[in-house]
Amino acid sequence: MRCSLKRSLATAFSLCVFLLIMYLASWHHEDLVMNDVQKWAQTVGLHPIATDWTVSSLRMFINATNTLNISYDYLVGSPPLQKKFLTLGLCSVKRMRQDYLLNTLTSIFEQSSEEEMKEMVVVVHLTDPDHKWNSQMALEIARSFPNQLHQRNLVVIHTRLEYYPPLEGLKRNFNDPEDRVRFRSKQNVDYAYLMNFASNLSTYYLMIEDDVRCTKHFLTVIKRNLASQEGTSWVTLEFSKLGYIAKLYRSTDLPRLTRFLMLFYQEMPCDWLFVHFRLLLTQKEEIRFRQSLFQHVGHYSSFQGTLNKLEDEDFEEDFSKIPDNPPADIITDIATFRNSIPSKAYSSVIGYFWGKAPSVGNSFTLIFKKAAPIFRIQIHTGSKEFPESYLHEGLVALGTNKLQTLRPRCANYITIGHFTKGIFDKQNLENSITSDTVCVQILVTNTQSESLIISNISIWIKPKA
Ligand SMILES: *[C@@H]1O[C@H](CO)[C@@H](O)[C@H](O)[C@H]1NC(C)=O
Ligand SMILES: *[C@@H]1O[C@H](CO)[C@@H](O)[C@H](O)[C@H]1NC(C)=O
Ligand SMILES: *[C@@H]1O[C@H](CO)[C@@H](O)[C@H](O)[C@H]1NC(C)=O
Ligand SMILES: *[C@@H]1O[C@H](CO)[C@@H](O)[C@H](O)[C@H]1NC(C)=O
Repeated sequence: MRCSLKRSLATAFSLCVFLLIMYLASWHHEDLVMNDVQKWAQTVGLHPIATDWTVSSLRMFINATNTLNISYDYLVGSPPLQKKFLTLGLCSVKRMRQDYLLNTLTSIFEQSSEEEMKEMVVVVHLTDPDHKWNSQMALEIARSFPNQLHQRNLVVIHTRLEYYPPLEGLKRNFNDPEDRVRFRSKQNVDYAYLMNFASNLSTYYLMIEDDVRCTKHFLTVIKRNLASQEGTSWVTLEFSKLGYIAKLYRSTDLPRLTRFLMLFYQEMPCDWLFVHFRLLLTQKEEIRFRQSLFQHVGHYSSFQGTLNKLEDEDFEEDFSKIPDNPPADIITDIATFRNSIPSKAYSSVIGYFWGKAPSVGNSFTLIFKKAAPIFRIQIHTGSKEFPESYLHEGLVALGTNKLQTLRPRCANYITIGHFTKGIFDKQNLENSITSDTVCVQILVTNTQSESLIISNISIWIKPKA
C-alpha cells in the first residue's frame, strides 16, 4: 500500500516535470516561429507585424490595390508589353507518377485561335523545392512552345523559398497529417504569389490547374458569359465545378486575394479559402455556368501521387454545342413558385424557373433585344428531383414581328413543334421562317395539376458564313 503511494507520487512528480519541460519547449518553439514570421513579413512587405513599420508602410499594407514587392525569377519568357484581356495562371510541382503540364499548355494553345491568343497570356509558376526539376521543366517548355514564348503569350516564373512563410510547425487543423498541412499551406502561398505576379497583366484572371484540358474557343465563351453578368457585382465566376479549376476574378481583386491567401495560408486548402473570399466580398451564391470549359484530366494528385480521378460531367469540349442565347427579355403569366425568377431558365448560369401549375393559354416568352437568325432551340422541363413537374402539353412558336405596344410583344406567331415528355428540340429552323426571330414563345396547350420547372432553354444562332 505504502509502496504504491510512493510510486504514484513519483509518477505524478515526473509528469509535472515533463509538462513543465514541454511548456517551456513549446514557448521556445513559438518564439522561433514568431521570429520566422517576422522575418518573412519584412521580406514581403507586410510591415505591421515587423518592428520597423511606419505610417507609409501601414498605408501600403492596408491599401489592397498594391501588389506585394517580390522579385520573381523568370525561368523562360517575359510578360507581355501590353495589358491583355485574360491571364491564365497555374502552379506546377513535380509529380510522383506523371506530369501533365505540357499537355495542359498544348490544350490551351491548340483550342485557341490566333486572334484569341492575342488577348491572353499564360503564367506558369513552377514551385517545386527541387530546382533541378524546375529548370528541367522550364527547358522542356522552352523547347515545346518557342512561338508562344516569342509572342509573349507564355511566361514561366519561380519564387524563391526565402519569400515563403514558415512551412514547419504549422497548425494541424482538421487533424490533417503534418505533410498534408505542409503541402496545402505551401500551395496557398504558391497561388498567392502567382496571383500577385498576374495582378497587373490583364483585366481578368483565370485560375486553372496544371492537369486540365479545355474547350475549343474557351476565351470566346468566357467573354460571352462575362457579358451576361454585366452590371452585377460578382467576385468569382466558375467555369468548372472542381477544385481550384477555372475560377475567374477581376484582376483588381487579386492583390486582396493574395493577402487573404497569405493571412490564412495554414488554415485550410485553397479550394475552401476561395469560397470564404467570395462570401466575405458579399457574393452569397455561387455563380457557375452550365457548361464547364476546363476538364480535370490528372489521375494522380500532386500530393503523394494518390489516385484522384475526379471528372466534371458538365464539361463541354465542343464549342458548337454551347448555346448562344442572345440577350432577351422574358415575359410570362405563369405564377411563380417560391419567388422563382424566369430568367434563370435562360441564363448561362446554372439555375431553373419554377412556376405553379399552369393553365391552357399560359405562356413563357423570350423577346430578343435584337432579331436573330436562330437555327436550333432546345428546351428541357422537369428535373431529376421533380420529374413530374414537366410541361405535359405545350408547343413552341416563333414571332418575327415586334409590336410597339406598352408592353413588348410579338404578333404573327408560327408554331414550329410540340413538347414530347417535357423536352423540345428542333434544328434547321432557318427553313421554317423567312425572317429573323424576335420572339420565342412556349405555349401551354393543356391545364396541368403539377407545377412547371423549366430547367433550361438553349438557343443557337446561325454562324456567320
Ligand atoms: C492605394 O494605392 C494606389 C496605387 O499604389 C494609389 O493610387 C491609391 O491612391 C492608394 N489608396 C490609398 C487609400 O492609399
Ligand atoms: C522592392 O524591393 C526591392 C528589393 O527588396 C527594393 O529595392 C525596392 O525599393 C522595393 N520597392 C518598393 C516600392 O518598396
Ligand atoms: C502595371 O503595368 C503597367 C503597364 O502595363 C506599368 O506601366 C505599371 O508600372 C505596372 N504597375 C505595377 C505596379 O507594376
Ligand atoms: C437541362 O436540364 C435537363 C433536365 O433537368 C438536364 O438533364 C440537362 O443536363 C440540362 N442541360 C443544361 C445544359 O443545363
